[in-house]
Amino acid sequence: MVEAPDPHTVLVTGGAGYIGSHTCRLLAAGGFRPIAYDNLSTGHDWAVKWGPLERGELADGTRLREVMRKYRPAAVIHFAASIAAGESVIEPLKYYRNNVAGSLALIEAMRDCAVPRIVFSSTAAVYGNPQTRLLSEAHPLAPINPYGASKLMVETMLRDAAAAHGLIANILRYFNASGADPDAGIGEDHEPETHLIPRVLFVALGKEREASIFGADYPTPDGTCVRDYIHILDLAEAHLCALKRELPKGSISVHNLGTGHGYSVKQIMEVARRITGHPIPVSIKPRRPGDPPELVADPALALQELNWRPTRSSLERLIADAWAWHKTRHG
Ligand code: UFG
Repeated sequence: MVEAPDPHTVLVTGGAGYIGSHTCRLLAAGGFRPIAYDNLSTGHDWAVKWGPLERGELADGTRLREVMRKYRPAAVIHFAASIAAGESVIEPLKYYRNNVAGSLALIEAMRDCAVPRIVFSSTAAVYGNPQTRLLSEAHPLAPINPYGASKLMVETMLRDAAAAHGLIANILRYFNASGADPDAGIGEDHEPETHLIPRVLFVALGKEREASIFGADYPTPDGTCVRDYIHILDLAEAHLCALKRELPKGSISVHNLGTGHGYSVKQIMEVARRITGHPIPVSIKPRRPGDPPELVADPALALQELNWRPTRSSLERLIADAWAWHKTRHG
């Protein structure tokens, strides 16, 4: 006999990570009890402040079942994953093991413990090279790096598990998560840091000598890659909107989380110079393998169906919040 789930309890895999910790904060503010499940390989125990931390591996089905039986969550929000598109080209099997095999163990544990719903952290990288200026959820799925391929495989597993086992799955395809919630004492802290905005801010802080532009010969207006940057709190909020949406058993929904506005690597550097007041010397490096020239969301479906508004995602606010966080953390 499986006990009924507690409607206010949510298991958050990767809850000690960047997106996970900001989501736990908003879950707690929204009346939920977030249980962070994390092996702390890349996450931080200091980022778990809004509920208990249960240490465990994603691939450890026994441990997952133990935690699910202890807390009886009504949903899992699944962030735990390897996340660097560039690294995935060099170490693809790491991505298939952590992201695909890990998620399989999680979905099996959910089936066995009758956890009815999952919100899954997918990515714009499932689309590959854009065939249209804005990417809608209907764009063909043709990832050009193993990271995107691994996330697409999990989407497929969820689709099949929903049909066969009645699971409800909210798939959220993120564009570029950035910014921080410095007032809550959390922000981006990856080791090594590969993401553009923190790397540029490290130069402003004097931690690095110069910033790198990975490719200035792309078919974009200024030759550098264009991305859709979304504030971490806007992104986190969309998970609550997804969780609250009534959906019948066995249904899948897919939403892009982006703003619909793209900015180039050079534009990011320009705004970072203005906000930090520091010169940011730059050197042009070769293209990074696995990078599409442009990834910009068509967010219309999320705006309409999730009743969600990204209100904090201006480039100025994003970079100012990231700057405030990095000054506290590394300044
Ligand atoms: N870049 C530089 N210099 C740097 C770092 C990055 O020029 O020092 C460039 C990259 O080549 C890319 C852009 O800046 O063109 C953004 O790179 P990031 O590493 O910040 O982000 P990605 O777009 O590669 O990937 C991020 C997340 C993924 C997610 C993806 C979705 O890391 O998890 O956004 O768009 F899937």
